[in-house]
Amino acid sequence: MTKTLWWQHGIVYQIYPRSFQDSNSDGVGDLDGIRRHLDYVVALGADAIWISPVYPSPMADFGYDIADYCDIDPIFGTLADFDRLLGEAHARGLKLILDFVPNHTSDRHPWFLESRSSRQSARRDWYIWRDSAPDGSSPNNWLANFGGSAWEYDAASSQWYYHAFLKEQPDLNWRNPDVRQAMFDVLRFWLARGVDGFRVDVLWLLIKDDQFRNNPPNPHWQPHQPGIERLIQLYSADRPEVQDVVAEMRTVVDAYPDRVLVGEIYLPVERLVTYYGLDLKGVHLPFNFQLLFAAWNAAGIARIVSEYEAALPPGGWPNWVLGNHDQKRIASRVGPADARLAAMLLLTLRGTPTLYYGDELGLENVPIPPDRVQDPWEKNEPGHNHGRDPARTPMPWDASRNGGFTDAEPWLPLNTDFATRNVSLLSSDPGSILALYRRLIALRRQRRALHAGGFRLIGSDNDVLLFERAHAAEPIMLVALNFADAPRHLPLPAVGVRALVALSTELDRQGDPVDAALGLRPHEGVILEVRG
Ligand code: GLC
Repeated sequence: MTKTLWWQHGIVYQIYPRSFQDSNSDGVGDLDGIRRHLDYVVALGADAIWISPVYPSPMADFGYDIADYCDIDPIFGTLADFDRLLGEAHARGLKLILDFVPNHTSDRHPWFLESRSSRQSARRDWYIWRDSAPDGSSPNNWLANFGGSAWEYDAASSQWYYHAFLKEQPDLNWRNPDVRQAMFDVLRFWLARGVDGFRVDVLWLLIKDDQFRNNPPNPHWQPHQPGIERLIQLYSADRPEVQDVVAEMRTVVDAYPDRVLVGEIYLPVERLVTYYGLDLKGVHLPFNFQLLFAAWNAAGIARIVSEYEAALPPGGWPNWVLGNHDQKRIASRVGPADARLAAMLLLTLRGTPTLYYGDELGLENVPIPPDRVQDPWEKNEPGHNHGRDPARTPMPWDASRNGGFTDAEPWLPLNTDFATRNVSLLSSDPGSILALYRRLIALRRQRRALHAGGFRLIGSDNDVLLFERAHAAEPIMLVALNFADAPRHLPLPAVGVRALVALSTELDRQGDPVDAALGLRPHEGVILEVRG
């Protein structure tokens, strides 16, 4: 039996650094703040932290617009603070994954300033410059992810540059070998410092059509949807040549032992899995976002899990994501009761779970008053509910002022219920969602069936999702999730087996023996341990 690697059996915890802990009273979280809470992450049971970008940035897109890939923005600290964080994480057995943003830089990056300076600049071709269309308009119809055209006209050189996101985020030209080398050097810079891997931003967008053909219209687009979805991203995304770049990136990372590449890829499953690469030499974990968009019921979840399991290439390691800094909070998407069910699902499916900070507290989307909106997407396309601030609010640590996040004015407001929903309070309540996360993670770590075992879907009838996890001769773990508002009665498949409740989303059933049938309360999830 092959041994699993840390990024296979482990759990990744995503930290949005601006919102974890402020340590220098400027209202924004920082590296030292993260360092102060490493023990919290360890107590939760995570194996790795992924931190969203902390590099020098004008913050047009809150760090996803990078002006220097090899330093730390003063708002987050210094390189020395980073090394200290990394050292202390490693001392606790925690891995650290950085966010790598290769698709675009900030428009203040020296590379772009040079590229923009003239058509003859040595770095002109590092970015994507095109002439006007014959009628003087933009080179083609491509749209930006945060609204409007993806082309910005530069009057000084009479050409347009391409930006898949904000105009402050010009896209690099990944067809240029010098760009590749420069960006691979960035990876090496951090790998040599000891980081354990990278989450690669918008990996499927790196290469654009070499003929810059117009994207076709999307006949299904509705006005409430993001403007970019008016077009099908046929020529601006997921181009075949991107696979070579991914393979090269992998080669760079493979020169260092035991590192991981995680790819941010929003694509249908059959396209997503191509990013495992030929002979699995692509990214180790192409982020699986299916749970973000699944119909939230037993049949809907059963469908996406089966499709995903079936689509995986042989040996491709699965992974699951419930939330991140770009999406609505899971507790708001499914409601507080099902947030507990979702926790059980995330931590019992086969594959690496990524947990988004605050979801373990059941944080919901925080309403942001119009005068406190920060997200540039919300500012560009207001009133569409695309804004990402509601899921990026400060971590509430205790009931003190600003939840103990900062003693200054926090950059975003906290959840209004922080006096009762905070780490300190939930930690001392055995019935809390935080306690449930800790129990789930502890059980998952302890049982090979759960962190390394096989997966078999048993059914999704009657609003109950039922599946089993099994590993060699170890007890089978049977997971039953009741999505209904009503109790359900579940006949157990095997006759003559001995089963007991290893864990329930409700506290009082732990250790209960179960024989012929399992009674499930409304919205209850149960993990049974079955001994033959
Ligand atoms: C990714 C990030 C998102 C960012 C965008 C542009 O989707 O997750 O936060 O705005 O890329 O870098």
